[in-house]
Amino acid sequence: MKILVTGGLGFIGSHTVVELQNEGFEVIAIDNLSNSSIDVLEGIFNITGKKPIFEKLDLREKSMVQDFFSRHNDVVGVIHFAASKAVGESVENPLLYYENNINSLVYLLQELTKLPQAHFIFSSSCTVYGQAEKMPITEDAPVQTAISPYGNTKQIGEEIITDVAKVTNVNSILLRYFNPIGAHSSAEIGELPIGTPQNLVPFITQTAMGLRKELSVFGKDYPTSDGTAIRDYIHVVDLAKAHVVALKRLLNKENSEKVETFNLGTGTGSSVLEVINTFEKVSKQKLNYKIVGRREGDITEAYANTDKANDVLGWKAQSSLEEALASAWKWEQKIRR
Ligand code: UD1
Repeated sequence: MKILVTGGLGFIGSHTVVELQNEGFEVIAIDNLSNSSIDVLEGIFNITGKKPIFEKLDLREKSMVQDFFSRHNDVVGVIHFAASKAVGESVENPLLYYENNINSLVYLLQELTKLPQAHFIFSSSCTVYGQAEKMPITEDAPVQTAISPYGNTKQIGEEIITDVAKVTNVNSILLRYFNPIGAHSSAEIGELPIGTPQNLVPFITQTAMGLRKELSVFGKDYPTSDGTAIRDYIHVVDLAKAHVVALKRLLNKENSEKVETFNLGTGTGSSVLEVINTFEKVSKQKLNYKIVGRREGDITEAYANTDKANDVLGWKAQSSLEEALASAWKWEQKIRR
């Protein structure tokens, strides 16, 4: 069965290609390489013994999307990762984000609606909940007005898919990720942030590697046990596996609604200081960090209630924070060699 993975050479995309190939799916990966490297194909090959079919394609070019589907009308499922994801950049350049994250989605769905039936998995984010009132966060927690254009593209994306489902044969699963971290245990693929990392874990590993002088901890005055903000850090391989499970659910017609939503997290919240301490323990490195003011737009805490994913999808995150951080560290050491 042929599966299209958009953004297939990116961080979560590449790990998902591996899991799909491990499960016997034939994968076509497309990517515009704006935030990824062609070398990722080699990493995927080294793990699975197979390269996916690859096409460099920019989903903002409608005619190219049409052309792609005219050549690959036997695609039975699409996992859509291709999107921009830097919150700060989206505030600076909202139109880039609306064009990249929304136009692409529309062009893809336009082609999918021409197929007799389509199965679609969408990369959403826990950012849609904003600062939720209750922890852990369930899927029925209200979606709150987005703080950034990036967050808004995830909300609008979910709405577009829901509207389309009402009048077409597209069946979809929206996956709301908490904080994906780590790398494949082989260290053949991992996260490749361009420029200064905005996310905590790549900043930590680059600091430990000596590429950054020190890590700034954004805020120690949050109403949490140690004053630093709390997130639900999930190993990217666990996350990737959830996509395969979700896809199979659609392919086997086990979905109970045309659009289903699942939180993907571990269910455990960790503070920034806990992440730092755990990293120091698993890497045996002393991390240079200082406490600074809060980062604008950050929330106090977010961690998932994973009951729905556990019970309905039958998926549960397996890796600990230690394992995820150790894999991120192994990857960082490998790419700087
Ligand atoms: C961020 C985005 C989120 C997006 C996700 C994608 C913001 C406000 N949110 O999530 O919308 O879906 O990335 O990966 O940008 N931290 C530090 N020092 C650093 C970096 C981070 O203390 O140098 C702290 C943050 O304040 C936060 C935690 O570490 O408390 C995690 O930060 P990060 O990895 O950027 O993820 P989010 O902010 O949760």
